[in-house]
Amino acid sequence: MKVCVRLLKHQDAALRKRAGVLLATAVPADRKQVLADYQVVLKMKSDPTRGRAVFQKNCVTCHRADSDDVAAATFDLTPKESYDSLLDYADGDLRKLAFEKDVSLVGDCPSRKSKLLELLTHGDGHQGVQLTEDDLDRLITWVDTYAHRVGSFSEEQEEQLRQFRRSLASLLDE
Ligand code: HEC
Repeated sequence: MKVCVRLLKHQDAALRKRAGVLLATAVPADRKQVLADYQVVLKMKSDPTRGRAVFQKNCVTCHRADSDDVAAATFDLTPKESYDSLLDYADGDLRKLAFEKDVSLVGDCPSRKSKLLELLTHGDGHQGVQLTEDDLDRLITWVDTYAHRVGSFSEEQEEQLRQFRRSLASLLDE
């Protein structure tokens, strides 16, 4: 998923080309290879607490209702509030990027325009917060996967994903 942002920056032309194929081709030349490449993604499990851990570690010292920092207190990033706070930020910037689009275009990832990420990565970072590479990766991935709340958009979709994984597994075993 973070393929999107990361590979755009990637210098290696062959890899970038492959990413383009993975993302854009409806009928891949080598289906088996593409399926193999997808295996990593398919084995990933959704875990909403991971994103929250990033905020817990980096943000809630200031961003909680009872914070000494009154300017930060109004922007609550504790687990119960963080999702709405982040989607509402900057006049609903992320809400618009994630939900007001009917198609996904190759390379046009929400994270490239996200005002939240701009705030966190601009200059020396926001309020001296230095996110680790891994934390930043998680944030970018979350933004680029359209700000999902729980790893899928519904229980029905979660079941479809399980079925999808099962069907691909049998293709690879052939
Ligand atoms: C050292 C304290 C501190 C930490 C840590 C901190 N912030 Fe802030 N944050 C502030 C203060 C103070 C403000 C209000 C002033 C400003 O906008 O810079 C603020 C404002 C914001 C705003 C703008 C809110 C608005 O309504 O305009 C966002 C978004 C934000 N922080 C996100 C984060 C995120 C995400 C993290 C963690 C990755 C984080 N902050 C960590 C102190 C902090």
